[in-house]
Amino acid sequence: NSSQTPFDVLGGEKVLSQLVDTFYSKVAKHPDIASLFPEDLTETARKQKQFLTQFLGGPTLYTEEHGHPMLRARHMPFVITPVQAEAWLTCMESAMDDVGIEGVIREYMLERLTMTAHHMVNQPL
Ligand code: HEM
Repeated sequence: NSSQTPFDVLGGEKVLSQLVDTFYSKVAKHPDIASLFPEDLTETARKQKQFLTQFLGGPTLYTEEHGHPMLRARHMPFVITPVQAEAWLTCMESAMDDVGIEGVIREYMLERLTMTAHHMVNQPL
């Protein structure tokens, strides 16, 4: 179907939810980024599910609740060097491995997430 969004191709809400929960379980254990995040990741994961849903062309859940994402501005309170960006991406790739996200949708998501993660860098090494 030519009207399928990347969100649909991924498998919709169910797969996205599995991906985000798996991702944050890895973030919570990653030595380069765990300390930036709150201990209880429930709300963080809820917002990330909303954001990634709209990032992938699904319903605009994040903006409906929180307004314009302004992601770089929202990340300014945290020191993010290329080390933190790579750690974030490593957790995401590893979560994709666990959830079984493969092929074109994986490559598409990793390409866009890599650009976005590098855009969040706000301090040199
Ligand atoms: C929030 C870290 C990249 C999307 C956050 C928070 C931290 C963080 C510490 C606050 C968590 C909380 O207090 O609940 C990082 C680091 C990154 C990174 C170290 C490395 C580059 C990204 C990327 C995306 C993203 C690539 C999108 C694809 C979000 C969203 C929120 C968030 C949507 C919630 C914003 C809100 O409060 O409404 N991030 N992040 N982040 N991050 Fe990231």
